[in-house]
Amino acid sequence: MIRVSGLRKSFEGVTAVEGLDFEVAHGEVLALVGTSGCGKSTTLRMLNRLIEPDAGHIEIDGRDAREVSPDALRRGIGYVIQGVGLFPHWTVAQNIGTVPRLLRWDRARVRARVEELLELFGLEASEYADKYPSELSGGQQQRVGVARAMAAEPAMLLMDEPFGALDPVTRGRLQDEFTAIRRRRGITAILVTHDMDEAFRLADRIAVMDAGQILQIDTPERLLRGPREGFVRQFVGLDDRALRILSLHRVRELSRPAADAPAPNQWVSPDDTLREAASRLIWEAGDSLAVVEEGRVTAEIRAEDIWRTGARGAP
Ligand SMILES: Nc1ncnc2c1ncn2[C@@H]1O[C@H](COP(=O)(O)OP(=O)(O)O)[C@@H](O)[C@H]1O
Ligand SMILES: [Mg+2]
Repeated sequence: MIRVSGLRKSFEGVTAVEGLDFEVAHGEVLALVGTSGCGKSTTLRMLNRLIEPDAGHIEIDGRDAREVSPDALRRGIGYVIQGVGLFPHWTVAQNIGTVPRLLRWDRARVRARVEELLELFGLEASEYADKYPSELSGGQQQRVGVARAMAAEPAMLLMDEPFGALDPVTRGRLQDEFTAIRRRRGITAILVTHDMDEAFRLADRIAVMDAGQILQIDTPERLLRGPREGFVRQFVGLDDRALRILSLHRVRELSRPAADAPAPNQWVSPDDTLREAASRLIWEAGDSLAVVEEGRVTAEIRAEDIWRTGARGAP
């Protein structure tokens, strides 16, 4: 879906990004992570031609990005701007409807889509649709920013720190929402974040950037098990990597058969992560836990299997 090679950009002689090569497959979410100023936003802005590269090649859906007009490109690519960037003199509904209006959807369809998205992001349409951005909290503005990027159901999303200004609870909810929407519709996205946990949670692959270059690009698990020496190791964080690896796996992957019974006091569900199961096992000082679906025991999960999954050298 996206193929980037040899991308380079400098501002007034200072290199912002250099030698970037990566691909994003259809339906894949790639996270760009790295410290502030490493070139993440510049990379995104070159993909939708808000900035023109000095050198290199960008192909989107099989076409050279230079051959597509910037306007057409941006109508097909949802963009969540770092720091929200809502139009201050437009209402929430007008902001969300920006691209659908450019695409000449009729009024009723735009309105219906705006209401659907507001509901999806937990904002009551009757209360929020006609408010102005200054009347919203930072977290609410950020949700409107993400809703705006998704309004015309673009095949591709570029998201620049989309959940950055949210409290942890709201961030978690929106991350879950993003994952659910992805499962339902399939989204190809590049997600910029400086939060490694967010990258582990949402991305299929992660590119670790430093000083304008990609140092390593890999799946979350391979990045945790085999980070390159130096910056990548430091950024990925090795102290809790076993727990982070467990959070990439679900209980159902390790379930063993168990006799049918009513749910005991302590249990996990098949979709819980191994990290959650591990935490409960430590709390209970137990060797195994019941796996429960709809109030009945359907399987069990054993501590030894979990420890093995989080261990060095495990697959
Ligand atoms: N429009 C610009 N003019 C001059 N320098 C810029 C501009 N945009 C970005 N830079 C510089 O390019 C580098 C990368 O910036 P950016 O891509 O915004 O980093 P990140 O998003 O990773 O924080 C920084 O050194 C930044 O100061
Ligand atoms: Mg940035």
